[in-house]
Amino acid sequence: MTDIQGKRILLGLSGGIAAYKAAELTRLLTQAGAEVRVVMTEAACRFITPVTMQALSGNPVHTDLWDARVSNNMAHIELSRGCDAIVVAPASADFLAKLALGLCDDLLSTLCLARECRLLAAPAMNLQMWGNPATQRNLKQLRADGIAILGPASGDQACGEVGMGRMLEAEEIFEEIDACFQPRLLAGKRVLVTAGPTFEPIDTVRGIANTSSGKMGYAVARAARDAGAAVTLVSGPTALAAPRGLERIDVSSAQQMYDAVMARVAKADVFIGVAAVADYRPTEAKGHKLKKGTGEITLQLRPNPDILGTVATRRNAPFCVGFAAETENLEANADAKRRRKKVPLLAANLAQHAFGADDNQLILFDDQGRHELPRAPKIVLARALIAHIAKLLPKK
Ligand code: PMT
Repeated sequence: MTDIQGKRILLGLSGGIAAYKAAELTRLLTQAGAEVRVVMTEAACRFITPVTMQALSGNPVHTDLWDARVSNNMAHIELSRGCDAIVVAPASADFLAKLALGLCDDLLSTLCLARECRLLAAPAMNLQMWGNPATQRNLKQLRADGIAILGPASGDQACGEVGMGRMLEAEEIFEEIDACFQPRLLAGKRVLVTAGPTFEPIDTVRGIANTSSGKMGYAVARAARDAGAAVTLVSGPTALAAPRGLERIDVSSAQQMYDAVMARVAKADVFIGVAAVADYRPTEAKGHKLKKGTGEITLQLRPNPDILGTVATRRNAPFCVGFAAETENLEANADAKRRRKKVPLLAANLAQHAFGADDNQLILFDDQGRHELPRAPKIVLARALIAHIAKLLPKK
């Protein structure tokens, strides 16, 4: 579930080989409950057919400024009214230049000029075209005009070259569209988040870990970023891709996580400890692979530093949020943990439902009491948590 449900999105395609990704984007948007209207330039129709886009969007595709199907013959006005967002993907170098100049010689450029809603553009072009001063000048103008530029990414290009200018993947554009509907509750704030498991080495190839996937922590980092915060994500080993638009620091052990957090915490307004940090590590990590013997062996453990506990008791501590995963007595254990760690807010979840899952269920404990967040995808819960944090943050 996302905030895209029920939104009216006008998806514009200009000419570029990345037009095929717009087909997948349409599918993602319609699946998420958006009403998608597609407008294509003449060049776009050379890369992908309107029939494909019509089948995926479930709506007739518009390509012509002089469309007799529109009762008042003003397709540009009809289509741009009532939209929640216009998304141009792919946005070619030529189309960006038109937008920057305010030209309107076809349906897509005309309705962009006639819009009353936000406009997002996902550039797609060859790396030389991207790097050309003319394109960069146009982008600067577009950003100054309040147009959101999504990407591009760097990578293999259709022309055989490798570099900047590749259009974002459909899922990334979808995420950016979802993000643009979020209230900027943490604008101007700096948020430090820990996520994932830690890995405590026993020898060169073995260690103690846990089954945290990082999904909850990454969702919290994404929600904070979407709320307008500058986010640093300190992540234990996970298989997740770094969310765009935030700083990710990769660590392995609890000690490394501690060091990475301590090096950055002075600048943070909010610290959210979502990571499942190992409480103990082997006293000694062997520098070689341990050989199998015949009898029992004993592993001696020593406690790891408590990252959240240390941050929360600093002078000028940021607003601290802890997580607690419990297998039983969830509420009593979590509330006790909040008091022990001296944090103003703690999110409790049942370990057996939370670790590795896509959905979760949280109970938030603060000075006012308990607040239940019912079962939902982790990103939905993360957004509710961020909204709760924004309410509790001291007003300056
Ligand atoms: O990653 P996922 O698969 O999405 O799963 C999410 C999650 C279950 C890991 C997450 O929702 C969660 O509950 N994280 C906290 C796990 C936990 O039980 O932590 P704890 O009870 O050991 O620690 C309490 C708090 O202190 C946590 O905020 C933890 O980050 C922090 N801590 C703990 C130990 C330590 N040495 N340093 C810490 O900062």
